[in-house]
Amino acid sequence: MDLTLRVWRQAGPSDPGGFETYEAKGINEDMSFLEMLDVVNERLIMDGQLPIAFDHDCREGICGSCGLMINGQAHGPQLGTATCQLHMRKFTSGDTIVIEPWRASAFPVNRDLSVNRHAFDEIIEAGGYITVDTGSAPDANLMPVPKPAADAAMDAAACIGCGACVAACPNSAAQLFTAAKVSHLNLLPQGQAERYQRVLAMVDTMEEYFGSCTNHGECETACPKSISIDFIAMMNRDYVAAQMKNPRRLAQR
Ligand code: FES
Repeated sequence: MDLTLRVWRQAGPSDPGGFETYEAKGINEDMSFLEMLDVVNERLIMDGQLPIAFDHDCREGICGSCGLMINGQAHGPQLGTATCQLHMRKFTSGDTIVIEPWRASAFPVNRDLSVNRHAFDEIIEAGGYITVDTGSAPDANLMPVPKPAADAAMDAAACIGCGACVAACPNSAAQLFTAAKVSHLNLLPQGQAERYQRVLAMVDTMEEYFGSCTNHGECETACPKSISIDFIAMMNRDYVAAQMKNPRRLAQR
């Protein structure tokens, strides 16, 4: 396949950046999108140019490191697929492909296509954990988990934290990410003790960085794990309940 790439190049967070055009010739259609970029980078290095910076780690759709806006779509044209799992057979020889980083003020560009997703880490630090006594592992059946709760928690836990939901949202909202992280703990018996404290802390932190959800639903479509926006409704319900349990806080808002 012979392709033309229009790639966003940016030296750092304060550099204005701009598009550069590269010819990617002789690309194998069985390559992943990131392998195609590897080939382009090898050629750039051979020519004495700086390679294109992009985030990646597992290349198996697990870690959430990869994330590119490909022809205006977060993670590209294949639904439910992270950039590292997208294959070049989804494109046609002769195509021009526009590649950009996630666009959101909460995700400043590190360099080229690599963005800083530290704001997500702060949301997790605020409440994405369960406080337990340490010690030897308890018996697996000590705390029974109803099957529907286990299934729903597992669906929420599929979130890999890539940030596609934010990049796809016209408001740069992080409701889907935050809802997935809140819900996978709040649905389980182990998460009940800190349930309301968790949702308040995580939503409050989210609001420091991200816009608000206005139900566009773009996040669900862009999510490489197809996480449902139903989790946003669950989070909102818990958030309202948490506010009601704390009337003084409600009066302050
Ligand atoms: S590189 Fe890990 S999910 Fe894509």
